[in-house]
Amino acid sequence: MSQKAIIFDLDGVIVDTAKFHFLAWKKLANDLGFDFTKEQNEELKGVSRVDSLKKILNWGNKELSEEEFNRQMQLKNENYLSYVNEMDKGEVLPGVQKVLDYLEENNIPYALGSASKNARHILEKIDLKDGFSAIVDGTDVSKAKPDPEVFLIAAEKLNVAPQKCIVFEDSVAGVQAANKGEMTSIGIGEEKTLQEADYIFNDFTEISIEFLKNLLQK
Ligand code: G6P
Ligand code: MG
Repeated sequence: MSQKAIIFDLDGVIVDTAKFHFLAWKKLANDLGFDFTKEQNEELKGVSRVDSLKKILNWGNKELSEEEFNRQMQLKNENYLSYVNEMDKGEVLPGVQKVLDYLEENNIPYALGSASKNARHILEKIDLKDGFSAIVDGTDVSKAKPDPEVFLIAAEKLNVAPQKCIVFEDSVAGVQAANKGEMTSIGIGEEKTLQEADYIFNDFTEISIEFLKNLLQK
């Protein structure tokens, strides 16, 4: 059983930071004179900071100089961090702690595989940093999801074969990355969005310990 491992995405899986990303990107767009919808925001999930800004500017038909592009990205991140800095353990999504407790009690290693450059800071805010055997985030990768790089580095750090890793993901790009890495993918969110995942749950409250146990024993 111990040869299997779990890799968690962060945003949208452990915490609902998507709402903060949305507020911060929306302010940026509004300041530049346009807006975008919640539906469009779905397309930003799992997408790196640079690629998110490129998409948003495309929606608003805006072009920025390289200098202004970088300045806007920095402003967005400062705004985003003003929300993150208010976070505490209470922001951990329902059902997540139960799964982490089970993994710890059974000595099953788990890692983080996130596109975010703020991941370590967020884990500190919600007091979960110490439990992770490995943390791989946006500062460690050169290729964004759907490339499997982030998860493959996590598997390597865990010293577990990719085929033995189980990935929890809320984004389409993340599910595709797990699949490309030959890992078991568990989508957290809507079935119609995450249909490429091996298993799909609306949230962690729907995941039973029995299910986890079976998966880890397979
Ligand atoms: C996650 C989120 C994305 C975000 C990306 C980069 O994947 O789902 O919405 O753009 O991380 O996050 P960062 O904190 O580095 O801006
Ligand atoms: Mg996510």
